[in-house]
Amino acid sequence: MLVVGNWKMNLDLAAARQLASAVSSSIGSVENVDVGVCPPFVNLDAVYGVLHGTGIRLGAQNMHAQDSGAYTGEVSAAMLRAVGCHYVILGHSERRQFFGETNASVSDKAQKALAQKLVPIVCVGESLPQREAGSHEQVVESQIQESLSGVHISSASELVVAYEPVWAIGTGKTASPQQVADMHGHIRRLLEHLFGRELGAGIPILYGGSVKPGNADEIFAQTNVDGGLIGGAALKADDFLAIVNAARR
Ligand code: PGA
Repeated sequence: MLVVGNWKMNLDLAAARQLASAVSSSIGSVENVDVGVCPPFVNLDAVYGVLHGTGIRLGAQNMHAQDSGAYTGEVSAAMLRAVGCHYVILGHSERRQFFGETNASVSDKAQKALAQKLVPIVCVGESLPQREAGSHEQVVESQIQESLSGVHISSASELVVAYEPVWAIGTGKTASPQQVADMHGHIRRLLEHLFGRELGAGIPILYGGSVKPGNADEIFAQTNVDGGLIGGAALKADDFLAIVNAARR
């Protein structure tokens, strides 16, 4: 199981250090579950300083697909690697919605992340109108196929996929256990088709969207759910710990 906290655009330097210390002291040496936290770019180095040696891994929330150059405001995969990142979240719905992220750009970024030995956490998920129209499986299918096109891995631990229905992110609404199980089964079949049975069966599929201490057990119990991508609840050390503990069970 894998639990990753997405801190989004929250916490200044002091607060990020404080949360990282609280998370590392409460989670301690992590057993039976992999844990990661993804602070904003400017706090990566400081958070790495706190987490280094604890087993909790660092991740970023985005990156640029080019190695370097005239891309004002952007950050490369090699730069993320150099400050200690293990993961990079790609194609989060907020980036798709507010920053023009497309499946094609996610695919470029995922290939570059892998080339720099970062583990991409590729996010997919349908909007409410798409769910209501019954096109959610088709939407997620194209997102998976196009975002992972050209992506090659030699071990299942090199890639993570996160299913995050947009209508469940930050809304307090979670997908029902059945909806989660159905979509994760669908994604599993797609991954087995794309990467072959053996690799596809091992790629972790996280659920994200209002995961809280009170619903984590039920979500994590579903088949093909290999952990969670946690937004709001990752900003409180106690809640995040409770979710990590649910993943341990
Ligand atoms: P949430 O966010 O847990 O606050 O719904 C999840 C995410 O956006 O990754």
